[in-house]
Amino acid sequence: MTSTNDANVELNKKIIDLYSDPSFEDIWGSHMHHGFYDLDATTKPNVQTAQIRLIEEALRFANVPEGSSKKPATILDVGCGIGGPLSYVAKKYGAKGIGIDISPHNIQRGTEISNAQGLGHEVTFQVADALQLPFSDGQFGIVWSLECGDHLPDKTKFVSELVRVAAPGGTIILTTSCLGDLTPNEESLKPQERELLQSLRESMCLLEWISCAHYVDLFKSHAMKVLPSTYLYTSVPVVIHVT
Ligand SMILES: C[S@@+](CC[C@H](N)C(=O)[O-])C[C@H]1O[C@@H](n2cnc3c(N)ncnc32)[C@H](O)[C@@H]1O
Repeated sequence: MTSTNDANVELNKKIIDLYSDPSFEDIWGSHMHHGFYDLDATTKPNVQTAQIRLIEEALRFANVPEGSSKKPATILDVGCGIGGPLSYVAKKYGAKGIGIDISPHNIQRGTEISNAQGLGHEVTFQVADALQLPFSDGQFGIVWSLECGDHLPDKTKFVSELVRVAAPGGTIILTTSCLGDLTPNEESLKPQERELLQSLRESMCLLEWISCAHYVDLFKSHAMKVLPSTYLYTSVPVVIHVT
């Protein structure tokens, strides 16, 4: 019989293999997340523009202050990929950034890219598991995670780790794929929706997704103040203020 622990080790190995493929960087560049697209726009922006827009919309939505006295000093990026979003946000606020990722390849590339950009002192990277963050409680003004939750087998533990390392008064910003809410007449996803999800899961190591409302409940169970969420094109930002 396979234990949960063995299954997680197996999953992490598959994820590490998946993200060791250099074609990810060729296709996505240093941002490996979806973008923000206006549904009623007549022309579509290019992917890089839409990715930066997603970051800016998430920060705006979270009311992250830009003024010098209140701007965040420390940012943790959970599942940072090769560091595009972390470098962007750290540079924007002149903050210290730490990125963690399960993939040694991503951590190596993140370090090389940020060094090449002259950000080596501001932004650092280390291999770590999002479900076991190697930090003491209450350290980070912003805890940030873009589309890492999609891969994680235990959303309850994920949320409790994000909450644990956030500083009092800090902000957690999470964008991740979620299941759509069911209509009052639906009891489950439609068979073709389940089939599509299953094929995505197998090819991209995606674990069981939960709804946005379920994420909100998980954060509320830690007495977090959750801003009303807004649906973006592909991801949903759940923004939580740590009180
Ligand atoms: C879609 S990529 C997003 C990367 C980055 N956040 C970005 O937006 O560019 C998902 C990332 O989550 C990382 N990941 C998956 N499972 C993880 C885990 N258990 N702990 C830490 N990182 C993990 C993957 O290695 C990958 O870099």
